[in-house]
Amino acid sequence: MRDMIPINQPLIGKDEVEAVVEVLKSGILTEKSGRGPRVLQFEKEFAKFIGVRHAVAVSSGTAALHAALLGARIQPGDEVVIPSFTFSATAGAVALTGARPAFGDIDADTYSLTAESIEAALTRGTKAIIPVHMYGLCADMDPIMEMARKRGIVVIEDAAQAHGAEYNGRRAGSLGDSACFSFYGSKNMTTGEGGMVTTNDDDLAEQVRMIRTHGEERPYWVSRQGHNYRMPEIAGAIGIVQLKRLPGFLEQRKKNAEYLTEKLSVLGKLMMPREPAGRRHAWNLFTPRLRGANAGKRNKLVEKLRSKNIGASVYYESPVHMLPYYRDIQSTRRSALPETERACRQIFSLPVHPELKQTELQFIVETVKRAV
Ligand SMILES: Cc1ncc(COP(=O)(O)O)c(C=O)c1O
Repeated sequence: MRDMIPINQPLIGKDEVEAVVEVLKSGILTEKSGRGPRVLQFEKEFAKFIGVRHAVAVSSGTAALHAALLGARIQPGDEVVIPSFTFSATAGAVALTGARPAFGDIDADTYSLTAESIEAALTRGTKAIIPVHMYGLCADMDPIMEMARKRGIVVIEDAAQAHGAEYNGRRAGSLGDSACFSFYGSKNMTTGEGGMVTTNDDDLAEQVRMIRTHGEERPYWVSRQGHNYRMPEIAGAIGIVQLKRLPGFLEQRKKNAEYLTEKLSVLGKLMMPREPAGRRHAWNLFTPRLRGANAGKRNKLVEKLRSKNIGASVYYESPVHMLPYYRDIQSTRRSALPETERACRQIFSLPVHPELKQTELQFIVETVKRAV
């Protein structure tokens, strides 16, 4: 029997190992303001890749979201519109500020918030919107930005799954007022754990730099709320190497996604993930949908695939608004979320990562064809 084909896996080579060893030998493992030499270099190169003025490295994607919200002066009593179709950390970061999440529905084809679904969740207390670029595909940002600008609402992209995704020629991370990335081990590039806030706003970048180090304006001089959200130098060193390799990773993910799409789209029972015109998918997850299925039927398919050692997974089984904690703390304006609830019952993800061999891709296709 073959080994489990993982849904995602970090690609770590000789260069990452050498970069880490160099940090260990240098004796500089961290720096009190979070601005050690590797972290600074990683920030500079990441900002250039995304096409923004500032990238501020932090300890996780969740920390990035929390710092971006605090930097935008989101406070207890405010409301933040987010999708319910996301990893719970999007909502968790909002809850950490004391604001309430208000959930908007998703577009059935792209799994992201739309300007219309956001409008249905707005209240007078809405101060920010967090569109999530789900699975690596950008939300339709132009109408969202236009609507938010008119109302004076801040837009923070959750680009945790979307390193290298593009929207009308611009990279995810440069489309909102700020954006947040994760470098967790399953992402398109990793530092083990880590995160980044990107922005063109000088003041916001300065706030986030302070927030990541206890709110210090200068060493030991605290002038605002903050945390310890620093990225360690080892993570920064890994990030520099991974960023260089990212274009190659993205190319291979794209090829794998095209292969899976071509071979599986003959199955009428599956709806394939889409890449609308003008957008470049970053293929962090390849997520088809079992048409007309309920959760039981979808789960059976996933179990069958797993029994054949294909690491199929469901991201995510429960919409966030139905999780016990968020049932209690969400906005009192609750819009219906039929597309979110339907998607949660029908989606499943297949391996698409760059380490997949052609024989494994073929095996995935054959097994899915038999199992559906
Ligand atoms: C959509 C989304 N938002 C936020 C996060 C949080 O990132 P992290 O795990 O680095 O805290 C993740 C990833 O795990 C994610 O997928």
